[in-house]
Amino acid sequence: GSTRHYHFEIRHQNVTRLCHTKSMVTVNGQFPGPRIVAREGDRLLIKVTNHVSDNITIHWHGIRQLRSGWADGPAYVTQCPIQSGQTYVYNYTISGQRGTLFWHAHISWLRASLYGPLIILPKLNARYPFPKPHKEVPILFGEWWNADPEAVITQALQTGGGPNVSDAYTINGLPGPLYNCSHKDTFKLKVKPGKTYLLRFINAALNDELFFSIANHTVTVVEADAVYVKPFTTNTLLIAPGQTTNVLLKTKSHYPNATFLMTARPYATGLGTFDNSTVAAILEYKTPLNTHHSSPSIKNLPLLKPLLPALNDTSFATKFTNKLRSLASSQFPANVPQKVDKQFFFTVGLGTTPCQKNQTCQGPTNATKFSASLNNVSYIQPTTALLQAHFFGQSNGVYTPDFPTKPLLPFNYTGTPPNNTMVSNGTKVLVLPFNTSVELVMQDTSILGAESHPLHLHGFNFFVVGQGFGNFDPNKDPKNFNLVDPVERNTVGVPSGGWVAIRFLADNPGVWFMHCHLEVHTSWGLKMAWLVLDGKLPNQKLLPPPADLPKC
Ligand code: C2O
Repeated sequence: GSTRHYHFEIRHQNVTRLCHTKSMVTVNGQFPGPRIVAREGDRLLIKVTNHVSDNITIHWHGIRQLRSGWADGPAYVTQCPIQSGQTYVYNYTISGQRGTLFWHAHISWLRASLYGPLIILPKLNARYPFPKPHKEVPILFGEWWNADPEAVITQALQTGGGPNVSDAYTINGLPGPLYNCSHKDTFKLKVKPGKTYLLRFINAALNDELFFSIANHTVTVVEADAVYVKPFTTNTLLIAPGQTTNVLLKTKSHYPNATFLMTARPYATGLGTFDNSTVAAILEYKTPLNTHHSSPSIKNLPLLKPLLPALNDTSFATKFTNKLRSLASSQFPANVPQKVDKQFFFTVGLGTTPCQKNQTCQGPTNATKFSASLNNVSYIQPTTALLQAHFFGQSNGVYTPDFPTKPLLPFNYTGTPPNNTMVSNGTKVLVLPFNTSVELVMQDTSILGAESHPLHLHGFNFFVVGQGFGNFDPNKDPKNFNLVDPVERNTVGVPSGGWVAIRFLADNPGVWFMHCHLEVHTSWGLKMAWLVLDGKLPNQKLLPPPADLPKC
C-alpha cells in the first residue's frame, strides 16, 4: 500500500442553516468535514492541529486499528485530548477492510460538527462483488442545533434532564426544503438515466436512528459497516448512528418527467422527546446533453414524496435487520467463531440515579437525574487515558478490572415494573486474554421503558449471531444462532424490549471502548471498555505509543 497524508486544522467557522448563523468547530472550515479516501492496505497519516479552545480527539469509526490503539481516538480511553495549540498525528494502516466508514470527534458532543466520510477502496485491481458503478456518492446524515450543541449537553448534564432535541436533520450538512428557511440548503443528487450509482450512507446523527427512502425508487443493499452483504432490494433503509450502508441505485432508463424527494426521519422507540422532523434531499435526473430543451426547474415539476414506516415500526426494523447477511463466499468468507471461550451477558438500559448537590435536577421524579448503564454500571470518565494507564502499569486510581460479566442480580428485564434499578458508578474494564473467543448477549431493560440502543464496539467487527424479543433464554435461544452467514459489523441495534447476541475474536491487543452510539446515552454513562492483553508472539503485542501522543 501507499502512504496518504491529510492535515486536519480544527478551526471555528460561521455556518448558517435555518436562518441561524453560528460559529462552529470545523475541520479545515468545512461542514461536514473533508472526505478521506484510501485503499485497503494503505497507511494513513492524519495530522490534527487544534486551533480552538475545546479539547479535541478524532476517532476513525470502524477502523480495526490492529495493534495501533493509540490512533483510535476516544478521549480518555486511548488518548488524552489534543489541547488548544497542540498537534497529534494519527498513524495507522488499513488492513483487511474496504468499504464505507466515517471519522468523527470523540469527546463530548463535538461530533455534531466534526465528522466526515472515510472511504476505503478495494486494493488496486481488486473488484467489488457487484457491477462497477457509474459513480459513487457519500450521503451523510447529521443533526443541526440552532444553539451550540456543547451548551445543549452541558445544560442537560447540569440539570439531570434530557437535552434539547435538534432543530433539523441534515443530508450532507443540508436540512432540505421541508424546514422553514431552508429551501436553498438542499442536497441534490444529480443522476443520468439508466446508470447504477453506489450510494454510501453514513448515519452521523447524534441521537436518532433513521428511516430513509427515495420516492418511486428501490435500492439494493450491498454492504453494511464496510463488510459486503448478500444483496437485497428494499424501498426503505434503516440506519442507526454509527452504522454505514452501501446501496446500488439503478436509475430509470428514460428521462422521467419528475423530481423525486429522498427523505429521512427517525425510528423512535423510547419514551423521551426526540426531533420528529423530516430531512429531504432531491434526486434530479439530468437532461441528456444532446437534447435542446433546458433542464426544467424543480418548481415546475411535481415533487414525489416517499412513504416512510411509522415512527415506532419495530416490525419493519426487525424485518430489515434480519435481511442483512454476510456474503459468506469463498472470496469473502464469514469467519464466525464456532467455539466460544467466554460468555458474557450485559443489560443495557436507562435509569435514574440520585442527583448531586451541584445539580438542579429535573429528572422524571424529583431529585433524580437520568443515567444509563451496562450491567447497572454507569461509566465514569477518568482524567487520564485507560490505554496509557494500562501500558505503563499505572492502572491504580484510573480503572478497576472488575466489570461484571453478568448482572449482579438477574431480574425480569422486560417486565413492568422491573425489580432491579440500582445503578452504581465506576470506571471498570473487562479483561480478555489475547485471542479469547467471546460471545456477548446484550439485553435491553425496560427500567425507564424499552428502547433500541445501537451499541458500537471499537477495535473489532463482530458477528450478529442472534436477536429476539423479551428475555433472552440461555437454554433455548442459542439453538437458533446463525453461525453460517450472520452479518459482520461494528454497530448493532439492541432491539427495544429484546436482546442481541454477538461473537468476536479478541485478537487485537489494547483498550477498546464499547458504547451506545446515541450520544445522549453515552453522556449518561452507557459505555465500558474491554482490555485485551498482549499475546506471546511479537506480532501479537500492542505497539509502543507514538512520541507525540498528547499528555493529560
Ligand atoms: Cu463512532 Cu466510539 O464511536
